[in-house]
Amino acid sequence: MLGLPMPDGKPILRAYSVTSPSWDEELEFFSIKVPDGPLTSRLQKIKSGDELILGKKPTGTLVLDALTPGKRLYMFSTGTGFAPFASLIRDPETYEKFEEVIVTHTCRELDELQYSQQMIENLSQDPLIGELVGGRLKYFSSTTRCDSKYVGRITHFIETGLLYEHIDTPALNPKSDRVMICGSNEMIADTKVLIEKAGLTEGANNRPAEYVIEKAFAG
Ligand code: A2P
Repeated sequence: MLGLPMPDGKPILRAYSVTSPSWDEELEFFSIKVPDGPLTSRLQKIKSGDELILGKKPTGTLVLDALTPGKRLYMFSTGTGFAPFASLIRDPETYEKFEEVIVTHTCRELDELQYSQQMIENLSQDPLIGELVGGRLKYFSSTTRCDSKYVGRITHFIETGLLYEHIDTPALNPKSDRVMICGSNEMIADTKVLIEKAGLTEGANNRPAEYVIEKAFAG
């Protein structure tokens, strides 16, 4: 949970994903800016030295331990659902556990893809993780409400097989592939159907399996 103290004594708190990797000394978060949102309208104006409230105990299901070993890890995200993957694609453990990592990000408009695009571009130059990532990370992005290289929902690209064609990778296979999904409830529900059709079963921390899901937080 992340929030701000308020003059009336009742702090405003919202669930956020930490986007920085687990080894980082700094904590980083990814947020939309809602012009009249109770928290983000204020959060976007904070200055160095301002007070923030941070929950002590992180929770979540998008953890590597909830997946059985595999060769390839897919991370499907929409909107702010990219946030947990921003952390995982910078974590050495991800590359210790998987030979290949594929992250997808779909947004309505092109400018919403900027954060993920820039992060992927900078990753190969990163002094700490760049070498480990090498050619093992693939990125696929699409937009749904404006023109771009790939237009359409991620479910469309999975269902038609166009995703695998575009990233030059074999289609989803429960023997070799593991999946994480993060987006809106509707996106998760529709993507789950396709993942299960490919033969993957849902896992949890105490019962690792082939895919896990998490609802993207509003902020
Ligand atoms: P679309 O523009 O066609 O609704 P949102 O901001 O509403 O969370 O949406 C973020 C992205 O997720 C948008 O590109 C949106 O596409 C897409 N999306 C919304 N619902 C679904 C769904 N059921 N399956 C796949 N993608 C979805």
